[in-house]
Amino acid sequence: MVFNSSIRVVDTRLMIDDLPVDAIARELETPLYLYSLKRIQENYRRLKAAFESVGARIHYSAKANSNAAILRTLVDEGAGIDAVSGGEIARALHAGAAAQDIVFAGVGKTAAEIASAVERGVGWFNVENELELQYINEAASSIGREKAQVALRFNPEVSANTHPHISTGHGGAKFGLTAGAIGDALEQSERFPCLSVCGIHVHIGSQLADSAATVQALAKTKQLIIPYPEIHTINLGGGFPVAYRHDQPIPSLENLVNRIAPHLHGYQVLLEPGRAIVADAGILVATVLYVKELAGKTFYIVDASMTELIRPALYGAQHEIVPLVQSNDERVLAQVVGPVCESTDVLAIDREMARLQVGDQVAIMTAGAYGMAMASNYNSRARPAEAVVAVAGDSWSLSRRRETIEDLLRLEA
Ligand code: LLP
Repeated sequence: MVFNSSIRVVDTRLMIDDLPVDAIARELETPLYLYSLKRIQENYRRLKAAFESVGARIHYSAKANSNAAILRTLVDEGAGIDAVSGGEIARALHAGAAAQDIVFAGVGKTAAEIASAVERGVGWFNVENELELQYINEAASSIGREKAQVALRFNPEVSANTHPHISTGHGGAKFGLTAGAIGDALEQSERFPCLSVCGIHVHIGSQLADSAATVQALAKTKQLIIPYPEIHTINLGGGFPVAYRHDQPIPSLENLVNRIAPHLHGYQVLLEPGRAIVADAGILVATVLYVKELAGKTFYIVDASMTELIRPALYGAQHEIVPLVQSNDERVLAQVVGPVCESTDVLAIDREMARLQVGDQVAIMTAGAYGMAMASNYNSRARPAEAVVAVAGDSWSLSRRRETIEDLLRLEA
């Protein structure tokens, strides 16, 4: 079974690049996140090549996975970083990103975060509230910084055909500014002498399978900015979809580029992909703690849960689950659940999968995006370790150690 160019089953063993996953799991224990840096590099290069014709500059969306080794790999490839908090800006800088190559986005940036980003020389501010313009201008003026670059985030009132929890461009969403508010901001931009309001930002959601919505949003964006020649940059956000099943087709990027390219002529183009770069490069490895039968159903209770991967509980996401070593051909209908005291702590419902026993290990696939990044300490569970397989594919290293009970207690009086 081949998941992608880096992750596949060879004979009976799940491999990540040149390494058997079970050998790494034996040393590091579970639950464990494991990422292929080679696959991340390849995903980045594929996106870059697909958007070459429109000259797009990619800012990797750190919210998908802000692991330092991953950020370093992407920064070394030339990526900028899309950051949504002071914490993500700090991580980006720590990974070696130039401040100029960071986009600071987010619907609720604090004045302190803005001031710090201005001081550090962050390249772009994606603005979603009129008051932010004042904050950025004041911060820039107080340190004598000239012309902080601003992109206004437009809410185009276009519904993306995706899960409602990851849809952001419809009218009722909290994101962005209306066309009217953007017009007003542009008319009044001379009130902010330290700003260069020269970009427009539009991101209608994540896991966007339907390019028609993207094209519609872009067409509306163009209509809005045509009267304002000072707008020279269009930031299209992220949202490029990935396959969550190994046999699931995904829409071609080239088709999308062909459809949007005519609208982008003459503009500098920025992108903020997250999921498409890291999702399929990561797996979450877990061990079966118990097997039990209840109400005619088979439950596999594993040592990973909604605290390591919340996507199934939060969005009903379906991640494939495969044994690290396939020991039999028997298939069963199973419920894969975690130890957390919540009925929603379910990783797979009624899933046809390989029969497992206590002690068997499994990989929860396509967990590189919004997995560890959304992990929590609920139930006072220590967050898992993260390991990376080097770009060469033949060695691994621990990137972040497993949290300890001491880590959990450290901040309390
Ligand atoms: N730019 C903006 C303004 C965003 O809001 C997002 C994602 C991205 C870029 C990156 O989108 P991507 O390329 O990763 O689709 N936790 C959810 C996804 C939330 C996405 C939030 N914003 C999940 O696990 O599916």
